[in-house]
Amino acid sequence: VRLELPGLDVELATDRGVFSPERIDPGTRILLGELDAALSGLDEGAVVVDVGCGYGPIACAVALRHPGARVVAVDPNPRARALCAANAARLGLEVRVVAPEEVDDGLRAAVVVSNPPIRVGKAALQELLATWLDRLEPHGRAYLVVARHKGSDSLAAWMSGRGHPVRRVRSRKGYRVLEVGPALSGS
Ligand SMILES: C[S@@+](CC[C@H](N)C(=O)[O-])C[C@H]1O[C@@H](n2cnc3c(N)ncnc32)[C@H](O)[C@@H]1O
Repeated sequence: VRLELPGLDVELATDRGVFSPERIDPGTRILLGELDAALSGLDEGAVVVDVGCGYGPIACAVALRHPGARVVAVDPNPRARALCAANAARLGLEVRVVAPEEVDDGLRAAVVVSNPPIRVGKAALQELLATWLDRLEPHGRAYLVVARHKGSDSLAAWMSGRGHPVRRVRSRKGYRVLEVGPALSGS
């Protein structure tokens, strides 16, 4: 599939058995439209994590857009990890591709970007997001794209209830991009 962003036009390999193999998912596309804003002002060496990388459109776009970032791509699907790693390597990008259980508990992220796996169900999704939101640096931010009909608003309400500042930065074609900060202390 072709990944086109302003000033960027690359091809990524996909395959059956991974998410959205025929085209860049429309939600992912909308999230990528917010990438430059999400990555602006990042320090050299800042850790950016793509949670649920699939074949790697977000992780590769981050590494292309912000070569100074340390990009970590996480997915439990071995086929997705292999494709993501191969796509990054072919583009000459340094992306660390890992399974969730390989993530060091001490890892802290300046930015988490994710088109999260809604299909795992509400409880598993909340557990996954709680894990990663708790790994944000104090000034870190997560950018999540969720379709409205797949519960973006209730997810936003759940994160707010957990003490996270949540801001809707984009609402387009039925998708919301949510910017989420670490839980405020005392909540
Ligand atoms: C909606 S897809 C997004 C894939 C890719 N980022 C894209 O935009 O095309 C969500 C991904 O999350 C992965 N996933 C499922 N459970 C996960 C978990 N516990 N931790 C990280 N990723 C997970 C799925 O395998 C899937 O590749």
